Amino acid sequence: MGQDQRKVTAVYPGSFDPFTNGHLDLIERSTHLFDHLIVAILRNETKRPLFSVAERVVMIEEVIEDLRFPNVEVDSFEGLLVDYATRKGATVLIRGIRAISDYEYELQMALMNRRLQPAIETVFLMASEAYSFISSRLVKEVAGLGGNVSGLVPPVVEARLRKKLQGA
Ligand code: PNS
Repeated sequence: MGQDQRKVTAVYPGSFDPFTNGHLDLIERSTHLFDHLIVAILRNETKRPLFSVAERVVMIEEVIEDLRFPNVEVDSFEGLLVDYATRKGATVLIRGIRAISDYEYELQMALMNRRLQPAIETVFLMASEAYSFISSRLVKEVAGLGGNVSGLVPPVVEARLRKKLQGA
């Protein structure tokens, strides 16, 4: 296969608990850069997530369907990220960097992943500055205390947050 026919698959891993407009911004940017993008949710119940993995998969799928991204799929994984990416034929890991405070942890992860699997490259993307202060943790905290999170998460996620927290 010629060099320019090679299709590049990227994995965008994370907890996505919940999925925010910052995550969505990164997906949109990634779709312009890579042929195929897999949004991969870590299955880690020890983190005591607000939404189950199944709920998160459905939510992200709903958002992606609404926006008609053709080259994005949603999946979940456990174990080492680089092993999952290798099984999926991916050569790129996408991570978002908001502020300098994210950098140290992200650098450690990227270098560890490179050591584990040198054929996979981490690519850092920056979401729009409009989303640079959004984190899933703060969204959960604000929503849990009755604050308004519209504009911070997609409407589908906002509705599910409301439902989940009313039921709590
Ligand atoms: O959204 P998060 O919680 O910051 O995502 C962290 C994630 C899922 C990317 C990271 O915890 C991960 O890759 N976990 C899988 C286990 C693994 O490969 N650990 C070694 C990473 S250096």
